[in-house]
Amino acid sequence: MRRILVTGRGGQLATGLEAALPAQGFEALLVGQPEFEFDKPETVVAAFHALKPDAVVNCAAWTAVDAAEDDEAGAFRANALGPALLGRLTHEAGIPIIQISTDYVYDGLKGAPYLENDLPNPVGAYGRTKLAGEWAAQAANPRCIVLRTAWVFAPMGKNFLRTMLALGEQRPELRVVADQWGSPTAAPDLADAIAAILVRIRDQGWRDDFAGTHHATGGGFTNWHAFAEAIFTEAARHGAPRPKVHAITTADYPTKAKRPADGRLDNGKLAHVFGVALPPWEAGLARVMAALRQA
Ligand SMILES: NC(=O)c1ccc[n+]([C@@H]2O[C@H](COP(=O)([O-])OP(=O)(O)OC[C@H]3O[C@@H](n4cnc5c(N)ncnc54)[C@H](OP(=O)(O)O)[C@@H]3O)[C@@H](O)[C@H]2O)c1
Repeated sequence: MRRILVTGRGGQLATGLEAALPAQGFEALLVGQPEFEFDKPETVVAAFHALKPDAVVNCAAWTAVDAAEDDEAGAFRANALGPALLGRLTHEAGIPIIQISTDYVYDGLKGAPYLENDLPNPVGAYGRTKLAGEWAAQAANPRCIVLRTAWVFAPMGKNFLRTMLALGEQRPELRVVADQWGSPTAAPDLADAIAAILVRIRDQGWRDDFAGTHHATGGGFTNWHAFAEAIFTEAARHGAPRPKVHAITTADYPTKAKRPADGRLDNGKLAHVFGVALPPWEAGLARVMAALRQA
């Protein structure tokens, strides 16, 4: 197993895999729009057959959570029909697929970290379409690994860390919600974890307990306000401005899409099945900030 098809070229996680896969002896075959477009399924089929991968990591997705409320059908095409097609193609080729999913499949009402067998109950369109994508990929290919992650950030792309740093340059004071809990996940750390999973499959061959859903987030938990404070603490050590960050509630900051208030995920199964654990989110933050400084 050598050739890994990575969808969503230019996205946060795909960019992480571009570095992480070669470091483990894999060839990363990145595909993106326009030549790989879920809205044009024939492009997906053509890219798959042209590249003849040994495994697929599907990072491509409609990730605009609020915009999904206005065009759930569009989000469904990317987040559910896309994985359905990739599931079918990988099954026909007899190869595994890793489908990336989200903590937004949960309603956030459990009051404790979610386990993979807790019932999903998405509260918005994005979560509904991503859950449909999990089911579609798993139904099409028994060799499907679903990784539910959360709060992804990277040195590039659209994410909370880069938004905070940009706002911090412009404003002396910011307001950030303090009543939504989760685990920030550095895209390079998640990419390393995915590469480690693929190493397992390559070295041991496919095992039936690999299949199914696994949580895969940065270690530990926080809320958006505390995450923002950590970002500015880290940035200030290198001379960036340190705005005052006021803690507000979700009710103070209405958004189009409802989000789970407590999307903490238990990552124990990932460690048990694959022997893989992502570093604490604070270490991921330091890693991404160092990469930003280098860039
Ligand atoms: N970001 C998060 O906080 C977060 C949290 C939990 C789970 N996840 C999941 O993690 C995975 C990776 O997320 P990410 O943060 O790396 O996402 P990202 O940076 O937004 O990248 C998504 C990629 O998907 C591509 N894409 C969008 N619609 C497409 C379509 N119809 N056909 C083909 N490609 C399409 C995008 O291309 P364009 O840029 O050209 O549109 C982009 O390259 C996704 O499955 C996401 O749902 C993300």
